[in-house]
Amino acid sequence: MDQHSTGIMPDRISVIGFGLMGAQISQVLSFSGFKVTAYDVSENLLSKGIDLIKGGRYGLEVSASKSRISPEEAVSVLSRISTTTSMENALDHAQFVLEAAVEDLKVKQKIFREASVRANPDAVLATNTSTLSISRIGEGLKPKVRPRLAGMHFFNPPQVMKLVEIVKTKKTSNETVSRIRAVASELGKTSVLVLDYPGFVANRIGISVFAEASDLLERGIANIRDIDLGMRLGYGYPLGPFELGDLVGLDARLRNMKALYAQTKEERFRPPKILRRLVSQGYLGDPKTKPGSKGGYYDYFGLKRPSEG
Ligand code: NAI
Repeated sequence: MDQHSTGIMPDRISVIGFGLMGAQISQVLSFSGFKVTAYDVSENLLSKGIDLIKGGRYGLEVSASKSRISPEEAVSVLSRISTTTSMENALDHAQFVLEAAVEDLKVKQKIFREASVRANPDAVLATNTSTLSISRIGEGLKPKVRPRLAGMHFFNPPQVMKLVEIVKTKKTSNETVSRIRAVASELGKTSVLVLDYPGFVANRIGISVFAEASDLLERGIANIRDIDLGMRLGYGYPLGPFELGDLVGLDARLRNMKALYAQTKEERFRPPKILRRLVSQGYLGDPKTKPGSKGGYYDYFGLKRPSEG
C-alpha cells in the first residue's frame, strides 16, 4: 500500500516560508514523493525559492549533472511542488504544516494561530526554528491544539544533512512525535528526540565548541587552521569549528549565538568579538552559499583551509 495515503503519513505537506530552508526542505520532501504546497509573502520570493531548488548548490540541476537523479525525476520533483501567496490555499485542510518562515517569534505565532484554524483538526503543526522556544511559539494556541505542535528541525543543507531534531514541548503528544518521525524517516533522515531547551541539542553543543575555539583564537593560543586541524585530527571531526562556521554562514552563526545568549545569559554563549568584527566587515562565509560575502575566517586571515592540504 502507498505509505503516503495512510493515516500517519500525509500525502501533501504545507511549507510556510519558502526561503533558504523552506525551499530546500520542499525539494527533499518532493524528492521522497510528498506533494508540497509552499507559501511565501510574494511571488518574487516564491520564484527565488524555485530557482534555488533548480539551480542551487544542492539543487536539481547539479544532482542531474552528477547523475544522482534522472532528468525525468528532476521534472517530477518540480511538478509535485506548488506555490502560493495565499495563506488560505496553503493551510486550508492541510494535513501537515511545516513552518520555515523568518526567525521571528511574532511571525511564527501568527502563522500557527492561522494554521490551527485552517488546517485539519488533527494536522501536525511543526516548526523548523533553530533558536526560538517551541512552547513560546505555541502561546496563544488553544489547549487542544498544543499537543500537535512540535519542532522539526532540519540542518542546512537539508538535501545532505541526515539529522532531524524532533523538539517536544511539555504539551506535545507522543502521536505528534511519531508522525514527525515517520515523515523524517520517509525522507531518509534519522531523527532524535529532544526537549524544548535553548539551542536544543546539536546546535547547543556545536555552538559551545565554536565559542571555545573562538576564545582560544582571541587569546592567541592557536590560529584558526591549527584549531581546525586539532579538532579534525584529534577528535575525528569532519570539519573544524571555523571551516564549519564558514560553510553555514557567519551571519547565521552570529544570529544563533545572539539568540542563545539572550535566552540563557550564559557568558559562554556571548558572541565572540572576532565573529562580530567579521560579520560587520562583510565576511559572511562561503560566497558560493552567501552571495556578496567577502569570504569567511580563512579569507579574513589569509590562511589555507585544511581541505586544501
Ligand atoms: P530565510 O530568510 O531564507 O527564509 C525565510 C522566509 O520566510 C523568507 O522567504 C520570508 O519571505 C518568509 N517570510 C517572512 N514573513 C513570512 C510570513 N509572515 N509568513 C510566511 N513566510 C514569511 O530564512 P531561513 O534560513 O530559510 O530560515 C527559516 C527558518 O529555518 C528559521 O526559523 C531558521 O531558524 C530555521 N533554520 C535555518 C537554518 C539555516 O541554516 N539557515 C538551519 C535550520 C533551521
